[in-house]
Amino acid sequence: MHWVNAATMLVMITSGWGIYDDDVIIRGFHFSSFWRLGDWAAWSLNWHFAGMWVLVINGLAYLIYGLATGRLRERLLPIRMSDLIRTVVDTLHLKIAHEDITVYNAVQKLLYIGVILAAIAQVVTGLAIWKPVQFSGLVSLLGGFQTARVLHFVGMAAIVGFVIVHVALALLVPKTLWAMLSGGPCLAVRGEGSEGQLQQGHPT
Ligand code: HEM
Repeated sequence: MHWVNAATMLVMITSGWGIYDDDVIIRGFHFSSFWRLGDWAAWSLNWHFAGMWVLVINGLAYLIYGLATGRLRERLLPIRMSDLIRTVVDTLHLKIAHEDITVYNAVQKLLYIGVILAAIAQVVTGLAIWKPVQFSGLVSLLGGFQTARVLHFVGMAAIVGFVIVHVALALLVPKTLWAMLSGGPCLAVRGEGSEGQLQQGHPT
């Protein structure tokens, strides 16, 4: 699901840039044709809507699986302020352990929850600007069509920011990449006690 999601996000982001370029939000700011999926806006829209189905179906499968099995709660919660501060201080002192890559530190948990929420927000704002008549109530709630469009763009920027940091840190700890390709170590062999493990993990 992670890799389907990664590929789909790439399609959504680059096709989104193709749509954006037809009618820019930031005057004078364009994306180079190298980064745009689709020769012109209509093609980019086609890609965007094709990717949309994959993203929504895969995203729903991921969320339902994660909630039903308790995986999301186990991996991403709890997040304590003290752990957050400690992780930031440790990272600034280059003291982050990453022996057990199945245990995320507090910063990772926060970022992963953030990017999941950002993806959900993209679907909501995307629906609003796709069907502004049918979802007129949603459009009003978001502050009008143009605001929904800007929110959609800001959501994209947040996800792109996450991806850059996420990929850079994964490359710094290559065993995480292998774990993501192979399915990672079996959860059953991991010790339980969560308190001590909160300090482990890598900051991706
Ligand atoms: C899955 C649900 C989504 C739907 C239904 C959707 C729908 C749309 C629609 C209809 C537009 C055209 C807006 C216009 O006419 O101005 C658009 C633009 C765009 N989308 Fe999406 N989108 C979705 C997800 C995403 C995701 C996940 C991303 C990237 C992370 C993204 C990035 C963009 C960008 C960058 C634009 C161009 C912004 C603009 O100039 O309006 N979209 N989207």
